[in-house]
Amino acid sequence: MKIRPLTPKFGMEIFDLTLSEVTEATEFPEIRRLFEEHSVLLFRNQKIDELQHLKFGQLFGPIEDRLVDEREPGDTYKIPKVSNVREDGSIIDELDEHTLHLKANFQWHADSTFMPSPALTNILIARLVTSSGGETELASTRVSWSVMPKKLKESIRGRGIWHRYAHSRAKVDPNLAKLSMFHKWKDQHWKSVWTNPVNGQEALYIASHAYKVDGYSSAQSELLISELIEFCTQPHFVYSHRWKVGDVLLWDQRAVLHRGRPWPYREPRTLSSICVSTTETDGLEQIRLST
Ligand code: OGA
Ligand code: MN
Repeated sequence: MKIRPLTPKFGMEIFDLTLSEVTEATEFPEIRRLFEEHSVLLFRNQKIDELQHLKFGQLFGPIEDRLVDEREPGDTYKIPKVSNVREDGSIIDELDEHTLHLKANFQWHADSTFMPSPALTNILIARLVTSSGGETELASTRVSWSVMPKKLKESIRGRGIWHRYAHSRAKVDPNLAKLSMFHKWKDQHWKSVWTNPVNGQEALYIASHAYKVDGYSSAQSELLISELIEFCTQPHFVYSHRWKVGDVLLWDQRAVLHRGRPWPYREPRTLSSICVSTTETDGLEQIRLST
C-alpha cells in the first residue's frame, strides 16, 4: 500500500485504495495493522455509499447503535449523520439545541467514553463541506503521554476516571444537558491509561466527558483533567483535517482525542459517521473498573 505520514509522529494517508472493495480477505488486515500502529488513517476521493460504509465498519467490530432503545418494531438502523441539515434540506439554526450539541463536539473528546462499550473508532465520510472552517482535529495521546513530564504523569497514572455524557453537554449549556438522550447510560469508570493489546503502547484515555479522578476532589479533578487535556492537545500533537467531499477519516479512540471546529453556520455540513464499539480484543476489559 502506498502511504504518507500525516504528521511526523502519527497518522497515515493511504493512497490508491478503493475502500468500497476492501474485504477481510484482501486489504483489511493491512489497514488494521496501520490503524494499530499509526492511530489515524485518511483515504481521499472515495466513492462509498451507506451500505459500503457499514460493511467497512463491520470489519473493525460491532457497530455502535445509540438509538437501539428508541427504535420502533420495523425501524432499521440508519447511519448517523453529524449534520446541520434537516431531511428536507433546510439548515438548522445556530441557536437550535441540535447545533449546540454539534458545538459540544468542539471540546476535545474521545467518542462514547460514557457508554458501557466505548468507541474503538469513528469512520467519518465527508458528504457536504463548508467553504471555510469545519475542520476535524485529532491529537495523539500516545505521543503526548510518551513525553509528558513525570510530575503530571504521576498525578494520573494508576487512577481511574469517571465519564458522563451530560457532563460535556452541561459545559456548553446546562439546559442541553437535561435532554434524556444524555442520560441513557450510568456513569462509566475507566483506567486513565489504555495499553494497546497489539503493540503495548500506552495512551492517556480521557475526554470532555471525564469529570472525576479517583483520589481527588471534584474541583481538583476538573483542574487536573483540564491540565492533562491541555498538555495533550498542544499544536505539535495535533493533526487538523480540512474536509473535501469523499474524504474518509478514521482514528483509534483509545489513543487519540478529537474535536470539531466552527464553520459558517448558514452553510450545510454533513459527515456520515459510523462508530465501532471496543471489544475484549481491543483491551476493553483491561481498562474497566468497578462501578
Ligand atoms: C464526531 C465528532 C467532530 C466534527 O463525529 O464524533 O466529534 O468535526 N465530530 O464534526
Ligand atoms: Mn466525536
